[in-house]
Amino acid sequence: MSSITDPVFPTQGDIPLSPFDLHSQISSALFCDEARAWEPRGPEAVGIPKQMATLEKYAVAAPFLSVPALDEDGKKITFSEQATHWALQNLPLSDDDKRWSSRGEAMEQIEIQYGEILPETHVQWQETTSDRAMSLMAFQGLGSHRLERVDDDPEATYIVDLSWMVAFPVREGFERYGACAFFDDNRQIVRVYTAHNDTTHYPSDASWETAKWCWRTSLFVGVTIADHLGSVHYLTSNLLVTATREQLPPEHPFRRLLTPFIYGTVDVNRDAYVLLSPKQGLAHRTFAFTYDGMVRCLLKGVESVRLQTFPEALVNAGMDSLGDEFPYATDGLALYDILEQYVRDYLAIYYPDDTAVADPAIRRWWLALTQQCPNLGLKPLQTAEQLIRVTTHFVFTVTGMHSQVGDVADYTRDPAFVGSKIRAGQTLGDVQATVQLVNLTVTTGLIQPTIIGDYRHTLPSQNKDQALRVFEVYQRALEQLVHDVNRRNLNREQPFQTFNPTLLDSSVSI
Ligand SMILES: [Fe+2]
Repeated sequence: MSSITDPVFPTQGDIPLSPFDLHSQISSALFCDEARAWEPRGPEAVGIPKQMATLEKYAVAAPFLSVPALDEDGKKITFSEQATHWALQNLPLSDDDKRWSSRGEAMEQIEIQYGEILPETHVQWQETTSDRAMSLMAFQGLGSHRLERVDDDPEATYIVDLSWMVAFPVREGFERYGACAFFDDNRQIVRVYTAHNDTTHYPSDASWETAKWCWRTSLFVGVTIADHLGSVHYLTSNLLVTATREQLPPEHPFRRLLTPFIYGTVDVNRDAYVLLSPKQGLAHRTFAFTYDGMVRCLLKGVESVRLQTFPEALVNAGMDSLGDEFPYATDGLALYDILEQYVRDYLAIYYPDDTAVADPAIRRWWLALTQQCPNLGLKPLQTAEQLIRVTTHFVFTVTGMHSQVGDVADYTRDPAFVGSKIRAGQTLGDVQATVQLVNLTVTTGLIQPTIIGDYRHTLPSQNKDQALRVFEVYQRALEQLVHDVNRRNLNREQPFQTFNPTLLDSSVSI
C-alpha cells in the first residue's frame, strides 16, 4: 500500500507511481528502450527453413504444455537477459492502490510518457464507457468472438459471457472477475450480471457504470489470458510451429507454405514463458489473480481449444446471419475464404486429388497435432479436404484471430475503457495497473512482417512458377479485401479494422 506522500519516480515524469514499485518502473524503462530501438521487420526477415529436428523445449505447464527454446530466425536468450528476468521476477509483488486524480490526468500522462512508442490506434473510439460503446465492443470489438445468440431470454437476444472467470481467485483488495453482458435484438445493452456478488444490474441502477466496468475489465482480462495467451499463443501457434519444424523437411512444399505463418512464433512464446507467465512475472503482477488463479485462467484457454473453424464457430454461436450488422463476421469470413483458397490452390500444385494424405511427412505432421493436443478432436487423415480445413484454421488463427484477441492498444490507452484489476466501486484503473497495462501494450506495437508482403523467397524450388502464380493471386485477393473493408467501413457505425490485411501480421510474433 502506498501513502499520499510517496514521491514521484523521476523517470516516469508526472506519473505518480510509488517509488517502491521497482518492478513497474524498471519494466517500463526496459520496454520503452526496446520499443525505441526496434527496427521494423518485413517479409525479408522470414528465413528459409534450415532443418527438421526434435526441438529443445521449456515446460510451461508440465507435462503437457511446452514451448520450443530457439527460433529458426531468432537468437538464443543471453545470460544477461536471463539475469535481468530473474532479478525482475524476484522483486516483491505489491499492489499499490494510488488513484489518478481524474481520467483526464491519466490519459494526458500516458500520452506524454508513452505516446511516441505506443502502437498507433486503428479505431478511434469516440466513446469508451457509454452503453453504445458496450454494443460496439460486443458487435465489432474485443467481445465479438465471444458473442453468442440466446433463444430463451425474454429481454436479450445476444450475450458476451465471462461469468466463468469468477472461479479463479484474486489477491486481497480486489474483486473477482466474471460478468455477462446482455444485448437486445437492436444490439442495445439491457443488463449486466456480475458474478462476484451474484447480482444483475439494469441501466437505471446506481451500480450500472460499475457493473459495465466490471464486464469490460473481465472481458479484457479473460480475452488476454485465456484467448490470447492460452488459446492462440501457447496452444495453437505453438502446436503449429512445433509440428511443422519437427515433422516437415526444410524443402517440403507444405513446410514452405507454412513458413511465413510461423515466423517469430518460437521467440514470442519463449519470451511469454520467461517474462509473462511465471510466478511474479508480468501477467501475475498486471492482473489481480493469485498465481494459481492466473494459471487456471490460462489453462482454461488452452484446454478449451477445439477444432472449430471460423465459419463453424459463427454457426455454432448463432451469429452467422446478421450480414454487415456484425462486421466481425463479414470481414472475418472474407479473410477466411482468401486463406482457404490459397491453401487449396497451393496444395493442388504439389498434391493433386487426395494424394496429400499419402505423403509421409504430412501424415507425421497430422499425427503430431493429434498426439500433442487430443482435445483438438482431429480425425484420422483421410482426405485432402481435411488437410485444407485444418491448415486454413491454423493459418486463420495465427493471423486474423490473433489480431482479434491481441490487438488491444485501442483499449488500453484509456484507463476508464478497460482495466486489469477490479476494485470495489471503481470505474477507473489505478496508477500502477495503468502503467502495467501500458507496459504490456508497448510490446505489441513492434512492427513485424505483415500478411501482405513479398514472401516469394520462401516458396520451394520445385514447381516454383506455379507456386509463384498462386502466391500472386493470394496477395491480390488480400489487397482487394483491403479495399472492401475500407469501403464497408464508410457505412459502418464505427470503422472495424481487425481483419483489415494492411494491419495483419503474417504470424504470431508479438
Ligand atoms: Fe500476441
